[in-house]
Amino acid sequence: MALMFLSETIQAYRQRDPAARSNLEVVLCYPGLHAVGIHAIARFFWNHHLYTLGRFVSHIGRFLTGIEIHPGAKLGRRFIIDHGMGVVIGETAEIGNDVYIYHQVTLGGTASDAGKRHPTVGDNVIIGAGAKVLGAISIGEGARIGANAVVVAPVPAGTTVVGIPARPVDRDAAKPRFEAYGTPADPCLDPLLHEVDILRSELTDLENRIAKLARDRIF
Ligand SMILES: CC(C)(COP(=O)(O)OP(=O)(O)OC[C@H]1O[C@@H](n2cnc3c(N)ncnc32)[C@H](O)[C@@H]1OP(=O)(O)O)[C@@H](O)C(=O)NCCC(=O)NCCS
Repeated sequence: MALMFLSETIQAYRQRDPAARSNLEVVLCYPGLHAVGIHAIARFFWNHHLYTLGRFVSHIGRFLTGIEIHPGAKLGRRFIIDHGMGVVIGETAEIGNDVYIYHQVTLGGTASDAGKRHPTVGDNVIIGAGAKVLGAISIGEGARIGANAVVVAPVPAGTTVVGIPARPVDRDAAKPRFEAYGTPADPCLDPLLHEVDILRSELTDLENRIAKLARDRIF
């Protein structure tokens, strides 16, 4: 069973990381794979109530890989930690299947209560380098979190969020365009131009009436 999990995770690295050229390279050179393997051992001890031993194995893993995964954290299958250095995954974090995270990602807590205080990450989520996901919030299936985002609220499935605090990318918003001197090209958007248009049509109307009076020789 453990070998099957290992094998499918190696294949996931091969499929999703263009830099991974061979299985051997993944086994030897990918600290994310090492960290997940060491976590499996730490979690075994944790689940058998050998808490200090579990923490110690986790600590060794951190020393070797630069990736800190608490033995209480639940990881899904084919979990990829790319580059890895600086990743922190807290005790009550839960991670779904096929999740891909980059270096310096934190799945951290915001409360000091002993209960659930770390994020729950759905299947197929991607978390960009340096992003911080904080609190007992849910990241919906297939969501994408931009590099360096700070996520403090739940993210719906399939949504891309960026920034601090993280907000959804608005793909439908009209893109700003170049406007000479900052004057909007559409006069309806500019109240001053709208007033000028009204005055211009009143002026044309007056000119027409004066011309008519002149023709009728009223002057
Ligand atoms: C968030 C992300 C997934 C979005 O990718 P995308 O769907 O292709 O989105 P786009 O590049 O079209 O960007 C959409 C908008 O979000 C902005 N944006 C993208 N990533 C951003 C980020 N990390 N922080 C802030 N804004 C970001 C873009 O500037 C763009 O803004 P605009 O609409 O005002 O022009 C991607 O930009 C990202 O951050 N991926 C993480 C990659 C990473 O960590 N790589 C490390 C490799 S070592």
